[in-house]
Amino acid sequence: ARPAQASSPLLGFRAIPVSEADVITVPEGYTARVLIPYGEPITGDFPRYSLNNTGEEQGMQIGHHHDGMHFFPIEGASPYEGSSTDGLLVVNHEYIEPRYTHAAAVGQPLSPDDFPRKADGTREADQVLKEMNAHGVSVVRIARQNDGSWSVVPDERNRRITALTPMEIQGPVRGSELVKTKYSPDGTRTRGTINNCAHGVTPWNTYLTCEENWARYFLNSDEVVPRELERYGTSTDGTSRYGWELADSGADEYARFTASALAGSATEDYRNEPNNFGWVVEIDPFDPTSTPQKRTALGRFAHENVIFQPPVEGQPIVCYSGDDARSEYIYKYVSAQPYFQATASGALLDDGTLYVARYHEDGTGEWLALKFGENGLTPENGFRNQADILVNTRTAADFVGATPMDRPEWGAVDPRNGMVYFTLTNNTRRTPEEVDAANPRPENNWGHIIRWDEGADLAAPSFRWDLFVLAGPKDDSRKLSGRALNEDNIFACPDGLGFDADGRLWIQTDIGESVMNQGEFAQFGNNQMLAADPNTGEIRRFLTGPIGQEITGVTWTPDQRTMFINVQHPGATTSEEEFAAGNVNSRWPDQNPEIYPRSATVVITKDDGGIIGT
Ligand code: FEO
Ligand code: CA
Ligand code: CA
Ligand code: CA
Repeated sequence: ARPAQASSPLLGFRAIPVSEADVITVPEGYTARVLIPYGEPITGDFPRYSLNNTGEEQGMQIGHHHDGMHFFPIEGASPYEGSSTDGLLVVNHEYIEPRYTHAAAVGQPLSPDDFPRKADGTREADQVLKEMNAHGVSVVRIARQNDGSWSVVPDERNRRITALTPMEIQGPVRGSELVKTKYSPDGTRTRGTINNCAHGVTPWNTYLTCEENWARYFLNSDEVVPRELERYGTSTDGTSRYGWELADSGADEYARFTASALAGSATEDYRNEPNNFGWVVEIDPFDPTSTPQKRTALGRFAHENVIFQPPVEGQPIVCYSGDDARSEYIYKYVSAQPYFQATASGALLDDGTLYVARYHEDGTGEWLALKFGENGLTPENGFRNQADILVNTRTAADFVGATPMDRPEWGAVDPRNGMVYFTLTNNTRRTPEEVDAANPRPENNWGHIIRWDEGADLAAPSFRWDLFVLAGPKDDSRKLSGRALNEDNIFACPDGLGFDADGRLWIQTDIGESVMNQGEFAQFGNNQMLAADPNTGEIRRFLTGPIGQEITGVTWTPDQRTMFINVQHPGATTSEEEFAAGNVNSRWPDQNPEIYPRSATVVITKDDGGIIGT
């Protein structure tokens, strides 16, 4: 019998209640299984997971803090067509918890960002190497077994891309003065990618990984912090986020995180290192020898993800990316060259126009070009050339008068009609004076989802927008119908977002660790995932996660009968005192008192073999 609540033709499952348990819960008729937790070996010598793994071993294993990901059907020509039982899963590893990474951290009073130090204040170089190798991206072949579970398949394409992998700089910033370094005096190459939050999938079957909160990984101690660092919030005193510059070997790949003007020129010190970060990086998962490419034309900011309009033969490529920080902006890129399926490549992302959004009170909006010589972006106003505009994307967007948003997280495009949705996760610092129609609540604790329609011409500079949902509790929320959320769907802090091929909109939440399960946030339970019908605005809770985590990342096999999501940072709400006493508040997924909580992918199937969500 079909479950109750089947009023929406897209949503066939029964909503589950909120949960504070240390488990994954899915609706009746569904099964959730764990795949590739942190430390799972995927390549090289396939070293088994242990807290004692070395830095080198970590480079052959799944990294920490799984985030955006995509299932690429094996031997497939398209990212959405081909095998539903065999593929390359490409997964971002956003950041790390050093305390769950090193045996040396056991029994220390460490919070999630703290790291163990030696008595002299330096760090063991191998610990730093392990942390760098736990960042980046994993490419791993996985296959479905007869019982519906999935497992890792050894394959020459299995690969770790890390904070040390050599990369090329492409687009207008390539060769610019601002990216010339000791490592690459001609400004064409760099090392590594960090804080890989969410992702994108190009129409030509490659993966994009987005560098989000990279700024604090660098320490700048210059008297005057240059605007290309200052506007992004690089660390300015103490140490960088993880103190990688403190590695006791003093090697260049670690020392570069002290990004200050200490020597005579940029090619003798590390002042320009941070300018190599904040980009979207293209990876070809099918070619394990390929060099990742930093696509600078898409701008430099705290990129959350990249989403594409369905490509149209002979028309420009159109994609979007949000800058996830309080009162930052939403961007759109339009390629200069038209798309042709037979020849499309990453070159389409190297030459085009970056726009930033302004939302008007009347439900219209406009795209403002961040193009040298236009909208006042000229030398008289401090912008020397297009490379300077792109390295300083936020400053350029400030200058043209973009609309400051309540922390733009993921976007998603409805595959049926091109409507664009973006989560705005929260902004507790928006004042009553700063409220506008697109960000209508002061001290926005709960977040909302905005959407817009570009009209017939996707590249046109105007659009029409509305608010899909104001998240929050029963007495402070609003669905498309005008009605409030109820016990089947209250949620807060929308973050991950994805459309399946049928047009179901999946919404994932990230209530922050400092407020999770506390006060007014307790009513939402642990972070969760819901499904929405974009036509009716109906929303229903589908999954609840374990303690201390967020749910992020969603992808499907082409037949939509397997869904993959990620559980990131379980146990992150364990306090420093609890950690020092050995009392970790989550043991997900192993549920073994000897094993720390680990981020992992979760595979969801329907017991009758049906499409997820029906
Ligand atoms: Fe990495 Fe904005 O989430
Ligand atoms: Ca996120
Ligand atoms: Ca978030
Ligand atoms: Ca997060």
